[in-house]
Amino acid sequence: MTKKDFIPKPYKSSLQQGEVTWESPSNIALVKYWGKLENQIPANPSISFTLDHCRTTTTLKFQKKQRTASNFDFELVFEGEKKESFRPKIQKFLERVEPYLPFLKDYSFTIETSNSFPHSSGIASSASGMSALALCFMSLEKQLDPEMDEEYFTRKSSFLARLGSGSACRSIEGELVVWGMHNSIYQSSDLYGVPFRDEVHENFKNYRDTILLVDKGEKQVSSTVGHDLMNDHPYAETRFRQAHDNLDKLKKIFRSGDLEEFIKVVESEALTLHAMMMTSQPYFLLMKPNTLAIINKIFRFREETGLHACFTLDAGANVHLLYPDNEAEQTLEFIENELKQYCQNSQYINDKVGSGAKKMA
Ligand code: DP6
Repeated sequence: MTKKDFIPKPYKSSLQQGEVTWESPSNIALVKYWGKLENQIPANPSISFTLDHCRTTTTLKFQKKQRTASNFDFELVFEGEKKESFRPKIQKFLERVEPYLPFLKDYSFTIETSNSFPHSSGIASSASGMSALALCFMSLEKQLDPEMDEEYFTRKSSFLARLGSGSACRSIEGELVVWGMHNSIYQSSDLYGVPFRDEVHENFKNYRDTILLVDKGEKQVSSTVGHDLMNDHPYAETRFRQAHDNLDKLKKIFRSGDLEEFIKVVESEALTLHAMMMTSQPYFLLMKPNTLAIINKIFRFREETGLHACFTLDAGANVHLLYPDNEAEQTLEFIENELKQYCQNSQYINDKVGSGAKKMA
């Protein structure tokens, strides 16, 4: 599909008012999206596990009004309170998606959101938040165009979510989602995420992710600044090529179930992401002493037990510990006994791979 396919024909139905609620998860990238071109086009393809427990719930209330040429009419409520600080981000999102949702200026909206994870946990909520909002708008559009099919609904939701935040386009479906054109991934696109449809070995079913909250409060590098670092970065082209290669490797690994090889790709991706930040101008160092302490403990744990827990990182100090379901008992014990002490207020979140966003009754 091209972006023209997402511009709707005149709607057949009309709608005065209503509300809709979606719950959408966060996701954790295995091959990282870092660097983008204009219009939220990724510089390289990425793949992520969709998560299960870390979710945003968004209710969109809408009321038809006199169409005005001026601005969008919306109110934001976050966990029960008005939230003006989100306004610029939502305003920008609405501007970007308006060509694809031409009804936006015909309604007054109230957008109510809440997260399942603690506020200021340092977990990026833009993926779950933007995907939930995109889905709400799509549910409204579906009422204006009742014949819309499911495939179009899902693709366009991901397409719109991408315009809010790149990684958000990987949160609509489960369990593994690819975003960005890749030669050997069927139907992959720069415009939206698609489920990874190749064979996936039993070893990767119900994969676990424990998020170790090393540094909850502090602001990560904003994504705008972060992605910009890849413009004129001395290693950019090599990095983008490496992402393609790593996706090829993961494709084979998902088929074979080779956990040792999985670890090599995933940990290298995480360290490369941080290496890109450390070698850009300006440079950023986002790992904290406790991030490194945890990583070293993970290396030791693997050596001593032969188990397969590995780490990945976002653009921040928190560590995502990924491990197979059948090693959960020993790994959870390891977290309690040896990793918890490095987390702020001993906090961590146990999550696992999930199946994507859900519409609430
Ligand atoms: C490090 O999706 O937050 O988490 O498109 O500017 O909103 P924007 O960026 P964003 O970047 C996520 C970067 C990452 C890696 C990843 O999730 O692939």
